[in-house]
Amino acid sequence: MQQLLTPFLLMRVPNSLQTALDHRRKGGMFRSLRPLTGQIDLCSNDYLGASRKISPPVEQLPSHSVGATGSRLVSGTHQGHLDFEDFLAAFHGTESALLFGSGYEANLGLLSATGSRHDTIIYDERIHASMRDGIRLSMARSFSFHHNDLDDLRSKIPLVRGDCFIAVESLYSMDGDQAPLADLCALAEETGAYLLVDEAHATGIYGAQGEGLVQHLGLQDRVFARIHTFGKALGFKGACVVGPSLLRDTLVNFSRPFIYSTAPDLLSVRLMREAYEVTRTLHEERAVLCALIEQFRAMRREFPALQFLDSESPIQGLVIPGNEQVLQVEAALHDAGFAARAIRSPTVAQGEERIRICLHSFNTPQELRSALTVASEASEVRRVCGI
Ligand SMILES: Cc1ncc(COP(=O)(O)O)c(C=O)c1O
Repeated sequence: MQQLLTPFLLMRVPNSLQTALDHRRKGGMFRSLRPLTGQIDLCSNDYLGASRKISPPVEQLPSHSVGATGSRLVSGTHQGHLDFEDFLAAFHGTESALLFGSGYEANLGLLSATGSRHDTIIYDERIHASMRDGIRLSMARSFSFHHNDLDDLRSKIPLVRGDCFIAVESLYSMDGDQAPLADLCALAEETGAYLLVDEAHATGIYGAQGEGLVQHLGLQDRVFARIHTFGKALGFKGACVVGPSLLRDTLVNFSRPFIYSTAPDLLSVRLMREAYEVTRTLHEERAVLCALIEQFRAMRREFPALQFLDSESPIQGLVIPGNEQVLQVEAALHDAGFAARAIRSPTVAQGEERIRICLHSFNTPQELRSALTVASEASEVRRVCGI
């Protein structure tokens, strides 16, 4: 053991990295990895418990299916990928779909390939980091607008050069609120812009079979591109971008994360399909979750000392300003057997640090009440002790 450790102990490390990590530690922002160890799940995105219902395929897969063997453009495309993409296009009521290994890749791939240096991307200031990173890679000019503020969005339209793409999430991952999708469609049509909607947290939850919020609202013919991820309510992993065939052709030709990466393997594709088949049937779970959201919202008045997000979705939250402060409440919840995660700045704005509480169809009102009691008591201790 000693022999193994010695070289690492002697290894020089860059000062810049050490300084950056020290800075994180001081500000209560240091991130580390830990497994869930049997606590009550108030943090995963497995809103319907689908991950517990997906079973590995029993049929024999072809012998070439374990390793993907290359990029989709080289050796990585099998009939299974194309069949699944046809299924996805039909399920999401559009012309075409393109598969990605994750939502991060899909957003990076879509935003970076959408628009040339002659074009413009306008994005909600609260879109996910993966969309932002895609915008950074894109050659297009970009501007943000205030969260869900269509007047502010409209004020950016005179700055548009070339084609204009507007990037939003349908259900925001940190605040649990929805984008005003119908109004956004109207604005896009009026101004000639194209909408890009990240449906990560809405997929599986909204729509008769979990098709997402855009389809739930009947707006699928008015949104240029949608991103559906399979790692949240669908309980597995992976993602797709759906929209017109021109969009798919654009991504196959210009999307660097798609082109320069090994394809998803067929076993994963098989499980992605299974995740869809399972989730589309979870009608009871969707109804139970809907009722639980109402119960949680009603419970808020029992805890006047807590500051709740105003959310009507499974993503709820308790605002506890300060990184150190919110970590203390997270620790109290952990000690009481609840896994709910502190979301610190800079992930959210300073002063808006929060405990993100994800509701699941398998949580009970009693569990939620106990968790809120613990959080409320922990916040009270902080207040009284002035910490
Ligand atoms: C809104 C949103 N978009 C995209 C992603 C990325 O999806 P994935 O986890 O599949 O990479 C996430 C994940 O946190 C998300 O919350």
